[in-house]
Amino acid sequence: MEKYIVCGGNRLQGEVEISGAKNAAVAIIPATILAQDRCVIENVPNISDVTILFNILKNIGAKVKYLSRNTVEIDTSYIAEPIVPYESSRHLRASYYFLGAFLGRFSEAHVSPPGGCNFGVRPIDQHIKGFEALGAQVSTDYGFIHAQAEELFGSHIYLDVVSVGATVNIMLAAVKAKGLTVLENAAKEPHIVDLANFLNSMGADIRGAGTDVIKIHGVDMLRGTTYSIIPDQIEAGTYMTIAAAAGGDVLIKNVIPKHLESITDKLIQAGVEITEFDDSIRVCRTGPLKKVNVKTLPHPGFPTDMQPQMTTLLSIAQGTSIVTEGVWDNRFKYVDELRRLGAQIQVDGKVAVVEGVPQLTAAPVKATDLRAGAAMLQAALCANGTSEIEDIAYIERGYEDIVQKLSSLGAEIKKVVTPDVTLPQAQ
Ligand code: EPU
Repeated sequence: MEKYIVCGGNRLQGEVEISGAKNAAVAIIPATILAQDRCVIENVPNISDVTILFNILKNIGAKVKYLSRNTVEIDTSYIAEPIVPYESSRHLRASYYFLGAFLGRFSEAHVSPPGGCNFGVRPIDQHIKGFEALGAQVSTDYGFIHAQAEELFGSHIYLDVVSVGATVNIMLAAVKAKGLTVLENAAKEPHIVDLANFLNSMGADIRGAGTDVIKIHGVDMLRGTTYSIIPDQIEAGTYMTIAAAAGGDVLIKNVIPKHLESITDKLIQAGVEITEFDDSIRVCRTGPLKKVNVKTLPHPGFPTDMQPQMTTLLSIAQGTSIVTEGVWDNRFKYVDELRRLGAQIQVDGKVAVVEGVPQLTAAPVKATDLRAGAAMLQAALCANGTSEIEDIAYIERGYEDIVQKLSSLGAEIKKVVTPDVTLPQAQ
């Protein structure tokens, strides 16, 4: 078993470089299927979610070659069959983007329902609604979602809920459909804009990404391209809350400050000093943290993927903060772990009442999902004593070189491998 051992209490100082955005990469990598050609993708984050997607691509016949640590050549000229079986899809949520990409290229897709972090029901009814509006027939049997069409035609689609995944999948399926697709109530996250820019660089005609109406004029064919993925908004936000929690002074490099505004705003309200530069942001805290109320919302609201890190920060702020989860039904599961470190938090459904304590204290904890894992790391870094964090595979799904990056800022953290201990079954 792998775990992190973290000795808390060091003030973090120095510079950290942000990697390419996970949630853009996991959309852009399946989207290369539409090129039927060779693409070179730069600023690809070195994380396990990306490795899994490359393995899926290789399994279906694509060629994937690293040109350098973060630059990858993907050739999707030859793909055997538009199929992703359970064994491959179960490891991550984004495997459902193969549905849209296959449908866009072959008018046919067979993908086993995806895995990923578990924070309540994760329906895909809006993806299916979009595929059906484009003319596909969608069914589920023998553990596969099947989507098939003679030909796809542009359509007018209104999403009932703002969904990142449905917006991505509909863009992928519609990009080569005949005629115009108008997608209303679309997600506006930075990775939606990045995917649209990537597809446009392959010859697609997509306008309006980043607003809630996206217009896609279908094109006959797409070509290979060279493209650089945007910096990761959530990784940057995580280093911002970590620096704030540890009372540090950290320059976070390779960011787009505009993408971080909702996080910056809350940190300033909490008493943190933030200085924005063109492509970096400095986070410095010298005084005490103050209470802040936060509600997560789709972009440009406060990101749900920063909720655990922000709640953890507020657990050491003066006063009582209210955190409301506005996207997922069940994203406070990690609070039980945080309580083990001394946090005082009551959860009622989608609302957490956080009573700040002066100091967290070390304890063994586990990552319950990717962002919750980052929050545990943040808590351990400012807790008094040495904590152990288990189930770190979740963290490594989405944070490149997190141990090295934190160590370079002065954190005391190491990854250790211990033998698995199986306790005898209780009689
Ligand atoms: N929803 C539906 N029907 C659908 C799709 C979504 O009701 O067909 C609901 C969901 O239940 C949820 C809301 O809509 O309440 C938003 O879900 P969305 O589809 O936007 O989420 P997602 O695409 O599955 C992506 C990110 C998540 C991030 C959410 C929200 C990727 C691979 N994942 O998930 O990121 O939390 O958007 O911003 O892009 C993470 O990176 O840690 C992570 C979980």
